[in-house]
Amino acid sequence: MTKRLFIKTYGCQMNVYDSARMAELLAPLGYAMTEGPDGADLVILNTCHIREKAADKVFSELGAIRRLKHARERQGGRMVIAVAGCVAQAEGEEILARAPFVDIVFGPQAYHRLPEMLARAARAAGEQVLDTSFPAEPKFDFLPQSGVAPGVSAFLTVQEGCDKFCTFCVVPYTRGAEYSRPADDILAEARRLVAGGAREITLLGQNVNAYHGAALADGLKSAGEWGLGELIRALARIPGLARLRYTTSHPRDVDDGLVAAHRDVPELMPFLHLPVQSGSDRVLAAMNRRHSADQYRRTVERLRQARPDLALSSDFIVGFPGESEADFRATLDLVRDIGFAQAFSFKYSPRPGTPAASAADQVPEPVKAQRLAELQALLRQQQRAFNAACVGRVLPVLFERPGRRPGQLVGRSPYLQAVHADAGMERIGEIVPVTIRAVAPNSLAGVISPPLGGTGEVAA
Ligand code: 5AD
Ligand code: SF4
Repeated sequence: MTKRLFIKTYGCQMNVYDSARMAELLAPLGYAMTEGPDGADLVILNTCHIREKAADKVFSELGAIRRLKHARERQGGRMVIAVAGCVAQAEGEEILARAPFVDIVFGPQAYHRLPEMLARAARAAGEQVLDTSFPAEPKFDFLPQSGVAPGVSAFLTVQEGCDKFCTFCVVPYTRGAEYSRPADDILAEARRLVAGGAREITLLGQNVNAYHGAALADGLKSAGEWGLGELIRALARIPGLARLRYTTSHPRDVDDGLVAAHRDVPELMPFLHLPVQSGSDRVLAAMNRRHSADQYRRTVERLRQARPDLALSSDFIVGFPGESEADFRATLDLVRDIGFAQAFSFKYSPRPGTPAASAADQVPEPVKAQRLAELQALLRQQQRAFNAACVGRVLPVLFERPGRRPGQLVGRSPYLQAVHADAGMERIGEIVPVTIRAVAPNSLAGVISPPLGGTGEVAA
């Protein structure tokens, strides 16, 4: 009998990838995905712990799901509730204590054991199962090969965990030590994704450009360790794979091999998310970022020399402990110097167990709010200018799915902008030149360019 599975995913793209793998892992056990938690046999919350707000959401969501669980029980059914991801890793015991109706709690490194955990939960109804271990066996070796169609744009985890220990960040604690998957496993997964219809692959990792995976000899390079640049070169040779991206990278790990890949590999899209966090050397040092603001500027310069049309995105934290007005001004200066196509910015959120959380010189909330507003105004202005500069240009758009209006498709430009255009469903998966006509707050709109002496389609 088919059992209904609902997975709610919070946070980063790594969680999106993990949720998809969990669904694949459970499919052979008869679980099929459903749209909402109501009436589900198994509900998994795949959680994010990066900032306090993200973690708080889990407990409020659990309250709502408890009511559904009780309703199910009154009808004689059973709903198993599992909490996964980084909140589970960081606060496993607390979740079990605060939410006794939760059946299973497991961390990001333990989800390959989910079938076993479900069996345990079924055997001992009422007993809670907790697995927040960092198993010695890499979970990737135990995950089934994907049988699900990946869609036009797919994610592929190549690296996980982080050894950087930025003083604000929970990731090294929740995701554990850095681990790079062997290059051959990644190539095999990428070939499967492409065979299933993917035209674009985004390589994922908490610190993806720290990638240093074992590789067998393949004619391109002898056996040994590959960096991300070498991995990208090998992936780009897979027939049918038109676009490659990677996220999230650390400025310290942009090495010559990666810069050269941006120069030489046309499949590598000219858009890079490269978090800088702050433009003040004092704050960067206190954050343990291990680079200065000028080193970031130089890294961007090297990348832009390699790929002149490279557009940049970043993450910023305002109100880190000890951040003075001058430090904050230095961040604004850096933003003005670089010019970002888009960015994410956050107020510093003290995370339990991280060094910065116990610093004495916390910045008052109103100051954080005011700085965030000022930074976001500048970033929004830059994003608007970047998008406006696209009007009139012809951009190759990879169509991914139907738009909201009938007859309309949505795709992505090389710079990751969402682009709407009128086009038939058969063009999903194609890369099509689109003349950009208008800019909306979060997307562009355009028309498919008239045929350029042919079909009008650019080669992938
Ligand atoms: N407070 C605020 N922002 C944070 N980030 C990570 N930890 C914190 C924190 N404690 C932000 C960083 C990171 C992004 C994923 O989340 O900018 O790059
Ligand atoms: Fe967190 Fe990224 Fe720093 Fe690692 S490099 S500790 S994931 S912010």
